[in-house]
Amino acid sequence: MMTPGWWAMALSEAVNDQTPLAVAFAGEELVLFRDASGQAFALEDRCPHRRVPLALGRVVGSGLQCGYHGWTFDGATGSCSQIPNLHAGERVPARYGARAFAVNEANGFIHVWLGEGTPQGELPSSDYQPSGREFTGATIVNMEHDQYLAAMLDGPQCLLEFSHVRMTDFFLGDLRIEQGRMVLERGAVWSTQFLPSQFVLDYPLIVRTAVALQGGMIWVDLLSEEELPLITLMISTGANRRGTTSLCWRGYVHQQVPAKAPLRWRLARLRKQPPLNINSLIDGAAIAALLEASSRELRTLRQPHLIPVSAVV
Ligand code: FES
Repeated sequence: MMTPGWWAMALSEAVNDQTPLAVAFAGEELVLFRDASGQAFALEDRCPHRRVPLALGRVVGSGLQCGYHGWTFDGATGSCSQIPNLHAGERVPARYGARAFAVNEANGFIHVWLGEGTPQGELPSSDYQPSGREFTGATIVNMEHDQYLAAMLDGPQCLLEFSHVRMTDFFLGDLRIEQGRMVLERGAVWSTQFLPSQFVLDYPLIVRTAVALQGGMIWVDLLSEEELPLITLMISTGANRRGTTSLCWRGYVHQQVPAKAPLRWRLARLRKQPPLNINSLIDGAAIAALLEASSRELRTLRQPHLIPVSAVV
């Protein structure tokens, strides 16, 4: 079940005016594309004529032409703007149209409104302003969407890893809500660090995870012990088909280097090696072993609703 609102469905650079992009999201099949001016659109990925996926067609102006019989649908309204081979004097019936969804773009993601009626919710704030080298990616994981969000609070080390960093299970402070996000911080250490026991008093690193109470955005920050940002990451998540979850992410490495950073961390930065890995394959045994703690509150507060299929602009 998905909450109504703006959902980030793709990286901005994955949507273009040449090849329509098919996206399965929250039980909907959509197709994303742009016109030559860069305006992005979202239509239901099903031709109203014979149900062929519109993603198999081509972009024509600010519309999408079905690959089967060539009907063209306007990207903004979904109305059928052209049918080939109409007789002279024949007009396209007004009732022919594909479902169109409201689209917005922020933080390098294409956001599509899923919900009843006209868009009401706000886009995730534009607090993502990359200043260093940026890295992006997308994948589908074999895990239910709600479970993925829960695991991001209960055990993010099962879902992603920062290079040369080991996350711990020790929370630094209480779970809190900030700007519509559930935020939790845990201690982390350099992987080269010798630990006399599991219990460390001072953690040189902090991993802050924040899961949106609405929508599917996750923020993950790696911070120094002085809470200076080292790596910032935004992961867009959403239910795909058959219990899987779509992910796409973008993040960047900040300029500062912590004084105690090990040599291999510094060298990896100089060589521009990927600073983190988002797991495409999830270890089910590790997920099953996670204590269900912080995610309980998340489940209560997210209050999921079914999105009505009337989600049309
Ligand atoms: S199936 Fe799309 S135009 Fe006929």
